[in-house]
Amino acid sequence: MAMEEKPSPSLAYVPAGATDLDDLAAAARRCQACDLYKRATQAVFGEGPTPAPMLLVGEQPGDREDLAGRPFVGPAGRLLDECLEAAEIPRDQVYVTNSVKHFKWEPRGKRRLHSKPNAVEIHACRGWLEKEIEIVRPEVIVCLGATAAQVFLGRAFRLTKSRGELLDGAPWAERILATFHPSALLRMRSGDEEEYARVRRAFTLDLAEAASVVKFRSQRSRRGRARPSASL
Ligand code: URA
Repeated sequence: MAMEEKPSPSLAYVPAGATDLDDLAAAARRCQACDLYKRATQAVFGEGPTPAPMLLVGEQPGDREDLAGRPFVGPAGRLLDECLEAAEIPRDQVYVTNSVKHFKWEPRGKRRLHSKPNAVEIHACRGWLEKEIEIVRPEVIVCLGATAAQVFLGRAFRLTKSRGELLDGAPWAERILATFHPSALLRMRSGDEEEYARVRRAFTLDLAEAASVVKFRSQRSRRGRARPSASL
């Protein structure tokens, strides 16, 4: 696992001995470990049950998330919810978060356009993610997109090569899997219909593959269960 060894600057903002996600989220709202807090409305912390068998990590909050203060509540979140449902993953048993907790954007007319976080910003924020994982104790981590994948699997990791593979998740979880970011699917939605359907199906199957090693509450173990194929 290739999270860098150097302590993340955000660890200076993590309350000593924190075991509660609400306390962590409150502390994250005061984080100034990098400059992104200056232009964002607020820090957007992860959400979900503790412990949770599955933890999904995206890149950073988008425009809607920045305003709402909650992860994955905009169009990418809605698409993610649909695919989780198609993969038969109970949304309320999944913890969702981001690699970077503040929205990074550039003005384009009246709009705020997403801008990719750089390595310094990602490293600065990593302390929050480490703490979340420690508290949530997921069995499987799903990285949504290249940014999250590279946080865990190193900068040499290539989604194009290893997407959908269930990898050893030590020391963070039993398993880790990297797949598309739902925003990438959204961008395809207005293009070639068949290609969009193919990628959406691959994304859903990746989610189902990650779920196959997890036992959700009031579900029998999914290990060895057939992958869902209908309505993907
Ligand atoms: N994209 C992300 O990576 N995270 C969000 O919360 C929303 C969009």
